[in-house]
Amino acid sequence: MAKILINGGQTLDGEIWISGAKNAVLPILFASILGTKISRISNVPHLQDVTTSVELMAQMGAGISIDERLRIEINPSLLNRHEAPYDLVKTMRASILVLGPLLARHGRATVSLPGGCAIGSRPVNLHIHGLELMGADIQVKNGNIEATAKRLKGARILMDLVSVTGTENLMMAATLAAGTTVIENAAREPEIEDLANYLIAMGAKISGAGTHTIIIEGVDELGGADYEVLPDRIEAGTYLVAGAITGGRVKITRARPNTMDAILDKLAEAGAKITCGDDWIELDMQGRRPKAVNLTTAPYPAFPTDMQAQFTALNCIAEGTGVITETVFENRFMHVQELQRLGADIQLEGNTAIIRGVEKLTAAPLMATDLRASACLVLAALVAKGETSVDRVYHIDRGYEIIEEKLSQLGAKIKRIQIA
Ligand code: EPZ
Repeated sequence: MAKILINGGQTLDGEIWISGAKNAVLPILFASILGTKISRISNVPHLQDVTTSVELMAQMGAGISIDERLRIEINPSLLNRHEAPYDLVKTMRASILVLGPLLARHGRATVSLPGGCAIGSRPVNLHIHGLELMGADIQVKNGNIEATAKRLKGARILMDLVSVTGTENLMMAATLAAGTTVIENAAREPEIEDLANYLIAMGAKISGAGTHTIIIEGVDELGGADYEVLPDRIEAGTYLVAGAITGGRVKITRARPNTMDAILDKLAEAGAKITCGDDWIELDMQGRRPKAVNLTTAPYPAFPTDMQAQFTALNCIAEGTGVITETVFENRFMHVQELQRLGADIQLEGNTAIIRGVEKLTAAPLMATDLRASACLVLAALVAKGETSVDRVYHIDRGYEIIEEKLSQLGAKIKRIQIA
């Protein structure tokens, strides 16, 4: 186990690069299973979830190798097992993304039902319903999803809710179905467009990715492709908030500003001076304390739920009162009680947090509960007087590559210690 120790009070000032997007590389790795030829995926972030995905694919027999620059080469034709076991799925819910590709390419899949997690019950009923509409026979028993299909057939699928991985699973499955599939009320996240671009490079016929309606014309076979994963907009947003919360200046490179409008708008509202190039963003608070902002999370292109905890931290020390409403997950305020241990003034009313900015926070031992909450605690610790420890940092390692190195490069006093 490890802890992260942060000595608050530094005004961040510097430049860092952004890694490939966790929520794009995970579906893309599993999508390679659909192909008959080798794929090479680059700009892969060094994250625990990527390691878990590679382990899962290796367990299924796929030929998979990673080079020193973290480029992953997959030979899907060697795959000879079709199960995603509980011991792996319980550590990474995104393993559900193996269901669509296995079913479409091999006609069968046994995937452990991903349990809930700290932020919510996380059901997968929309994934299952969509595959059934495509002709799959799906039984849920003994904690597993057991799916079979001679060959999936194209269908019109109206998603009850906007679901990112639900849209991704069904889009992947539809690439090899007989006939055309239309997914309506599809999620529009940039990671879905990135996945579609990779599938198209493999020979899939997809139009409308990134809009509410995606049309997939099934083909008989897909090949392989060399593909570079898009930059992680949530990692990028997290480091910009690190600059904003400390009143500093942060420049991030290898980013994609045009996937971050809602985040950048809110940072500007908080008083940040934002300048952008094609692949870089500079935030400068010019030494000023941020102003409180109100926001409501919702599917893309609205404000992303994965940035909610980070902005809750920002509001803790802002001028004024900020109101944050979480509409995507039912339990995504676990960070609030930890922030209150630092002296934050937050009132929770259902799925809304009312945050009255305070002049200063003071250090305390904290415990991370989920991926984005743990990043939020690190951000708050950057401005808490004294040394804050954040325990259970394995949550952070699932989604942030070398967070201590990147924050140290910006001037933070942060280190990781191993504990028994
Ligand atoms: C993806 O999760 C992301 N994970 C999450 O990022 C992100 O928070 C979320 O989308 C929302 O943007 C990956 O892409 C690997 P959803 P996903 O299906 O697909 C309900 C992070 O921190 N729902 O869009 O699981 C669901 O309960 C993670 O990087 C159903 O009811 O989220 C939720 O309330 C956390 N039935 C809402 O829809 C279903 O079958 C949106 O969930 C599917 C979803």
